[in-house]
Amino acid sequence: MSGFAQRSGSLFCEGVSLEAIANEHGTPTYVYSRQSIEQAFLAYQSALSDRPHLICYAVKANSNLAVLSVLAKLGAGFDVVSVGELERVVAAGGDADKTVFSGVGKTPQEMQRALEIGIRCFNIESEAEMMALAAVAESLGQSAPISIRVNPDVDAGTHPYISTGLKENKFGVDIETARRLYRAAQASSALMPVGIDCHIGSQILEVAPFIASLECLLQLFDELAGEGIELKHLDIGGGLGVSYDEPAPSIEDYLSALSTHLDARGCELVLEPGRSIVALAGVLLTKVLYLKPSTARNFAIVDGAMNDLLRPALYSAWQDIQPVTPRQGEVLTWDIVGPICETGDFLGKDRQLTLSEGDLLAVMGAGAYGFAMASHYNSRPKVAEVMVDHDAVHVIGEREALNDLWQRERLLPERDA
Ligand code: LLP
Repeated sequence: MSGFAQRSGSLFCEGVSLEAIANEHGTPTYVYSRQSIEQAFLAYQSALSDRPHLICYAVKANSNLAVLSVLAKLGAGFDVVSVGELERVVAAGGDADKTVFSGVGKTPQEMQRALEIGIRCFNIESEAEMMALAAVAESLGQSAPISIRVNPDVDAGTHPYISTGLKENKFGVDIETARRLYRAAQASSALMPVGIDCHIGSQILEVAPFIASLECLLQLFDELAGEGIELKHLDIGGGLGVSYDEPAPSIEDYLSALSTHLDARGCELVLEPGRSIVALAGVLLTKVLYLKPSTARNFAIVDGAMNDLLRPALYSAWQDIQPVTPRQGEVLTWDIVGPICETGDFLGKDRQLTLSEGDLLAVMGAGAYGFAMASHYNSRPKVAEVMVDHDAVHVIGEREALNDLWQRERLLPERDA
């Protein structure tokens, strides 16, 4: 359920037309469906109801406080990669003890804050980081709960920028190093091994790479148990893809494959899904400013741009673009481009559409890694975000004003003559 559907000639989010949202809140605007977010999360929860589990939503996918709070209310845990994300979880009412902390470059200050708050677990990505954490924990008189992020050297078959489980990627440690780190952690009073972790990439469209990495994790899990290092949880990361243009496995199929491989093991399964919870629950609503047909290409210049939604420019990602109110007329092939001064500033290329100036377009599947990756490039203020809940529209992120752009900047003092 994406939460978006054509109804009597116009695109709706739940019970509200996108046209009404554009009239009230302007464009560009991110529009999210609460129901759609909830349904995706509940799909994870119900598929795992017969085994101990913790679904740690990956905050990086969409870190808006309202999104976090909707998920926290359903019992979600969180996967954070910075103290900024951690503080967002706290501000949104999330539980620290259901929060795991991933990322290759946690600073001692970030570690200290996470220990003070009492997070569930640090996902350790290198020996140097583990030693730094031990030092911080020791200075606080604590024992830091850790998982080692294992890099299983599995090809997830995804875009090279979002593939993380190959040995040439910067993430995690190889099995041999993991084994050594677990033994060292077990011997340290400042560290407490509680789990094992991996995350092999994002937008993965096959179940096989997940199974291959799970098998690798299970082998080490069992081996460590044999040595008396009893881990409580197994964290398989996030990464399940969604259907932008190609079919993706359903949440249910993915989890049933994982469960089969976990068989009777009683350990808790931890997951870190981001995209599969929020991607299809959001669109970027944008307006056609100008049509610029030419002999070479037809350009539709819209008010949304690569600073608002970077995925097409950065990864050549394809996201469907739908007219909010489809019109009759000649279908042409359009490049949907933004006002930014870069040839890479496009939201979609070669789209068959009937367009007029002033038309509203919805870039679909924009709920994940959309607003979260937005920038101010070309001095464009960040756009508004709204969440629809049945017939109600809530502003969950105000459109920035122009002076927000330079609020933190300072002029130099006058030079002495
Ligand atoms: N856990 C860790 C440690 C991660 O690094 C990530 C994503 C996730 C979980 C969540 O993965 P997901 O379920 O969302 O695939 N900006 C890119 C995606 C980057 C993903 C980075 N890590 C995009 O727009 O496609």
